[in-house]
Amino acid sequence: MINIKSSSEAIALESKFGAKNYHPLPVVLSKGKGVYLYDIEGNKYYDFLSAYSAVNQGHCHPKILKALNNQAANLTLTSRAFHNDILGQYEKFITEFFGYDRVLPMNTGVEGGETAVKLCRRWGYDIKGIPDNRAKIIFAEGNFWGRTLAAISSSTDPTSRVGFGPYMPGFELVPYNDLKALERALSDPDVAGFMVEPIQGEAGVVVPDDGYMKNAYDLCRKNNVLFIADEVQTGIARTGMLLACDYEDFKPDILILGKALSGGVLPVSAVLCRDEIMLTIKPGEHGSTYGGNPLACAVAMAALEVIKNENLIENAFGLGNIFRSRMNQLVKKCDLVSLVRGKGLLNAIVINKSEDSEVAWDICLKLKDNGLLAKPTHGNIIRFAPPLVINEQQIHECCDIIEKTIIEYK
Ligand SMILES: Cc1ncc(COP(=O)(O)O)c(C=O)c1O
Repeated sequence: MINIKSSSEAIALESKFGAKNYHPLPVVLSKGKGVYLYDIEGNKYYDFLSAYSAVNQGHCHPKILKALNNQAANLTLTSRAFHNDILGQYEKFITEFFGYDRVLPMNTGVEGGETAVKLCRRWGYDIKGIPDNRAKIIFAEGNFWGRTLAAISSSTDPTSRVGFGPYMPGFELVPYNDLKALERALSDPDVAGFMVEPIQGEAGVVVPDDGYMKNAYDLCRKNNVLFIADEVQTGIARTGMLLACDYEDFKPDILILGKALSGGVLPVSAVLCRDEIMLTIKPGEHGSTYGGNPLACAVAMAALEVIKNENLIENAFGLGNIFRSRMNQLVKKCDLVSLVRGKGLLNAIVINKSEDSEVAWDICLKLKDNGLLAKPTHGNIIRFAPPLVINEQQIHECCDIIEKTIIEYK
């Protein structure tokens, strides 16, 4: 290993040898603990991105690391060619935790999305009776569920999509938060599913009207269409409920989870649904070498236990209210911020500039200098999503940093 001594040295290595598919903020992190990150030079920051909501439980949570280390000392991977002694325990644990019949374990969030789409198509043919190769899945404009070919085929973001065709057929789009358009789309008998995020995270923490999700679910039921909730970013306490769908008190037919399912330790994702849907897929029809590996199972159980035992749902709910009320005061005081939106600790402010302006990026650089790491999403929007283990005094300190940085910004 090279002994990296400075941030510039580390950045130069990435710049020379890595693909250029990301544009990170110029900070090189070497340590994380709870709500804090530390760079190579030893500077300390509040993490206000939490690896896109994967680190809900805080960096290097001791209970999750204990589960990781204990399991790693015994067995890490068997593939699904054989049984292992922990997969079944995990399957029981997670299905009871979220109230579903069965789980299909995968690794990344996008694989969870792919799995849900496959299950939905299969259900469409085997149970709903859609003629072969005609199944359609409806997505909402502005969706983000990764950058595989299927995911970009449903995307309306030119950066993800353009130049990578041809695209996957059988996907259709409706505007987000538009029940009339959804109702029209669902009336097509070839529609098998509607896949949607309860809050569109990557699109800039776009929160639909109250009642949209439940009404969309009811429309799906009426039309015998599966409601697929992509809770990869919103799920697992992030929005102040265990699932963001819980705000409207209904249970999606298919639930996709990822990110915080491992507390940021490993890629762990899961698709949950009832027997009628899950059992349409037979041996050999879907899988992944690492999906359901013993390490992931042990880590995910510990990560979910931390959510429950440390009351992170309640914490995200309460501190989210404080955060938005502080940011609303800032909106009143400062023309540069036009609004704050979000639920729980998934929030964003909109900078009063055009989407192609550099102001949000520059503000993030200044926030970094002032000890808080955040990143713009879609040009003029800055997402704020700290680990859910943050406390009230810390959230006020972070609001002070954000307020000072923006008020002093020229
Ligand atoms: C809502 C949503 N779904 C799916 C994904 C994809 O997850 P992953 O990057 O783990 O594949 C993301 C990633 O940001 C997401 O926000």
